[in-house]
Amino acid sequence: MNAAFMNPINTQTWMNGRHVVRCIKVIQETWDVKTFCFMAQSPVMFFFKPGQFITLELEINGEQVMRSYTISSSPSVPYSFSITVKKDPRGQGSSWLHDNLDEGGEIAVHGPVGNFNCIDYAAEKILMLSGGVGVTPLMSMARWFFDTSGDVDIVFVHSARAPKDIIFHRELEHMDSRIPNFNPSIICEGYDIGETWSGYTGYLNDAMLNLISPDFMDREIFCCGPAAYMNAVKDILIRHGYPMEHYHEESFNSTPLDVMDDAEELAEQAHIEALDPSDVVQYSVSFDKTGKSSNINAGETVHEAAAKLGLHIPKACGMGICGTCKVMKVSGDVSMSHNGGITDSDVEEGYILSCCSVPNGDVVVDF
Ligand SMILES: Cc1cc2nc3c(=O)[nH]c(=O)nc-3n(C[C@H](O)[C@H](O)[C@H](O)COP(=O)(O)OP(=O)(O)OC[C@H]3O[C@@H](n4cnc5c(N)ncnc54)[C@H](O)[C@@H]3O)c2cc1C
Ligand code: FES
Repeated sequence: MNAAFMNPINTQTWMNGRHVVRCIKVIQETWDVKTFCFMAQSPVMFFFKPGQFITLELEINGEQVMRSYTISSSPSVPYSFSITVKKDPRGQGSSWLHDNLDEGGEIAVHGPVGNFNCIDYAAEKILMLSGGVGVTPLMSMARWFFDTSGDVDIVFVHSARAPKDIIFHRELEHMDSRIPNFNPSIICEGYDIGETWSGYTGYLNDAMLNLISPDFMDREIFCCGPAAYMNAVKDILIRHGYPMEHYHEESFNSTPLDVMDDAEELAEQAHIEALDPSDVVQYSVSFDKTGKSSNINAGETVHEAAAKLGLHIPKACGMGICGTCKVMKVSGDVSMSHNGGITDSDVEEGYILSCCSVPNGDVVVDF
């Protein structure tokens, strides 16, 4: 292509950072799942890698609540983006979104980030495996390949509880009807009274996988769903000797709770008091901006140390994926077991993810 005849993009494009966006549409996908579509105030092109996620900064009852959600739309439709959220009736963030966020509502989002995407692990043959709302990153990938006529052979297997829980059902069928290299299969655990279902029923197993995708051993695999689902998938793959370096997964684990309830606190205190004092290892974690410090037991995280003092370091995923809880370590040594939520250059500069950094001695943090 001759560069002289190309127009450089003059619309702004977003980068990893904090952005305020406006909700432009809410779609009821199933009885407990909604899609929220967002745009910037002035046209911005939302480029991201299909499969990546953002972290929402919500204000609920006067408190800041951070929650991560995968972008379910595709960057091939770049002037807006969507997230698809399952309502946990007892969950703070998802319930707030379902009950309060409507067209016109504004929220701040951070990102996009994430290693679970189909650009960094390009392949000619892909098997997408999803359970429940874990369909979102795979849907973004499928939409991307569909919209860009990607020369990729895709087998898309989605497991739902019952027919009424199948997210994006009609769109999957539509894509299936339009292109030969997209082959979706749906598995329902069961069906409710009044529902009919003639497809695969039960849990995904070896026999189903062999029927749906006989060549699964040759495919790059992307998997997202509840922990039990992903463990079952891994069991099947390992049993067949699948080369696990071609297996990629994303976990949506709920935010672990940092603050112990009174009973847990008392039980832990009693346990520590029963130990020989020479066996109890405690480290001090100091927060230099606030001038506070607390003693924590070996194995507790920097974030837990902050929570004990009532200091609120923002946190979303709680497992080293999203980067929300990043803080600068001023001194001391920590073991950080993250899942891609921090870059090597950030680590070199001295940043740590407080949710998954366990002190190896006394530590001082800039907070
Ligand atoms: C990378 C990533 C991508 C994600 N993408 C999606 C997505 O596309 N779609 C989606 O729907 N979700 C997604 N999630 C999950 C999402 O971030 C939230 O975890 C989910 O919506 C639940 O959040 P919540 O605020 O509603 O629930 P929370 O308030 O975090 O509560 C979670 C659970 O803990 C229980 N709980 C809360 N407080 C207490 C307490 N004091 N005692 C006992 N139990 C308690 C609640 O009952 C609830 O069942 C993603 C997560 C990650 C990390
Ligand atoms: S809260 Fe997501 S990396 Fe710590």
